[in-house]
Amino acid sequence: MRKTTLITGGAGYIGSHTSLALIDAGHNVLVLDNLCNSCRECIARLEYLAHTRIDFINGDICDSSLLADIFSRYDIDTVVHFASLKSVEESTLKPLDYYTNNVGGTLNLCRAMAHHGVFKLVFSSSATVYGDPVQTPILEDFGTGKPANPYGRTKLMIEELLTDLCNADPRWSIALLRYFNPIGAHESGLIGEDPHGRPNNLLPCLTQVAIGRLPELTVYGCDYPTVDGTCVRDYIHVVDLANGHLKALEVLQHHNGIHYWNLGTGIGYSVLQIIHSFEDITGITVPYRFAPRRLGDIAKCWADPSKAGRELGWRAQRGLEQMIIDTWRWQSCNPLGYQSSFEVPALIEVK
Ligand code: NAD
Ligand code: UD1
Repeated sequence: MRKTTLITGGAGYIGSHTSLALIDAGHNVLVLDNLCNSCRECIARLEYLAHTRIDFINGDICDSSLLADIFSRYDIDTVVHFASLKSVEESTLKPLDYYTNNVGGTLNLCRAMAHHGVFKLVFSSSATVYGDPVQTPILEDFGTGKPANPYGRTKLMIEELLTDLCNADPRWSIALLRYFNPIGAHESGLIGEDPHGRPNNLLPCLTQVAIGRLPELTVYGCDYPTVDGTCVRDYIHVVDLANGHLKALEVLQHHNGIHYWNLGTGIGYSVLQIIHSFEDITGITVPYRFAPRRLGDIAKCWADPSKAGRELGWRAQRGLEQMIIDTWRWQSCNPLGYQSSFEVPALIEVK
C-alpha cells in the first residue's frame, strides 16, 4: 500500500490549495472533511485540476471510531491538520463549540495517530497566538502572547498540547505553522475562498462588495497609529502558503520534535492600501465607509519570515498585485462561490 498523507479540512480554503500542491508534488492524499464550512464541489474541482481521483471522506475529526477506521484502512504516515472552526466572532458566542471542535478534535486526532504509530503532524496555527505583539515585524522568538478571543485561544492551547506531546515522546515530529493573512486563489480561478454565510475577513468582504453581493465595505477604525489610520496586516498568497506546508513536511522527515515557523511575506499593508490597490488593478470602485474599531483588532501585525527562510528554504514568491488578481479572478468567475457553474475560466482583464 502507498504511504498516504491525511489532510483534515482539505476541502476548505487553505486545505484545498495545499491538497493540490501535495498531489502535484507526488503525495498520495486522503481528504477528511465534514463540510461544515466547505462543499463537495471543491473536491470535484480539485480532481479536475490534479487530473486524478481524490480519496475523500465526509466525516468529523471528533468521531473517534471513524478515525480508528481510517487509520486502519489507509497506510497513513503524515497528517496535515487544517480542520477547525475559524470565525472569531462566532467563537465569542459559542466557545464550547470552538473548544470541542478545535481542541477536542485535535486531541482525538493525536490519540488516533499515536495508537496507529503515526507521529508526523503539520498544524495550522495563526499569528493570533502572538496576541498584541510588542513590536513588528514579529519574530518567533517573541514567544506567544494573549489571543483576544476563544478562537485564538484554541490555537494557542493546541500549540501547547502539541509541544507537550513532543516533550513527552521523542517519536513525534510536529510543525506549528503560524499563518499571517492568507488571501488569493489558485491561478486557474477554479478553487478559492468560499466561506458559508457572511464573510468576516477583509478580502472576501471586499470582493463581495465589488461583485455586488454586498452594498459597501465597512472599514473598522481610522484612528490607529499606522500610515493612514487603518490596520496593517501581512497578506500572503494562499499558494505560497500551501508551498510552505510542502517544505515543512520535508523537514519533518528528518527532524523530530516541535518546530514553529511564521508564514508571512514580511510586508504590511493597511486596509486602505488594499482597497486602493484593488481599485487600481481591477478598475472597479469599492464603496466603503468608516466604522468604529472592531473588538479584538490590533493596529499592526506582520511577520519576520526569516526563520522559515533559513530552516525551510521557503519564502513567499507572489506580491500583492498577484494576490489581488487571483482573488478577483476566483470571485468574478464564481460569483456564488462553489455554487457557480463550472466553467474553465479565461484570464481576467486587468487595467
Ligand atoms: P476553512 O473553514 O475554509 O477550512 C477548514 C475546513 O475544516 C473546512 O472545510 C471545514 O468544513 C473543516 N472542518 C471544520 N471542523 C471539522 C471537523 N470537526 N471535522 C472535519 N472537518 C472539519 O478555513 P481555512 O481558512 O482554510 O483555514 C484552515 C486552517 O487554517 C484552520 O485551522 C484555521 O484556523 C487556520 N488559519 C486560517 C487563517 C485564515 O485567515 N484563513 C489564518 C490563520 C489560521
Ligand atoms: C482575523 C482574526 C484572526 C484570524 C484571522 C483568520 C480577528 C480580530 N482576528 O485576522 O484571529 O486568525 O482573521 O481567520 O478577527 N477589516 C475591515 N472590514 C472588513 C473586514 C476586515 O476593515 O469587513 C479589517 C480588519 O479590521 C483588519 C483587517 O481588515 O484590520 C484584516 O481583517 P481580517 O481579514 O478579518 O483578518 P485579521 O483581523 O487580521
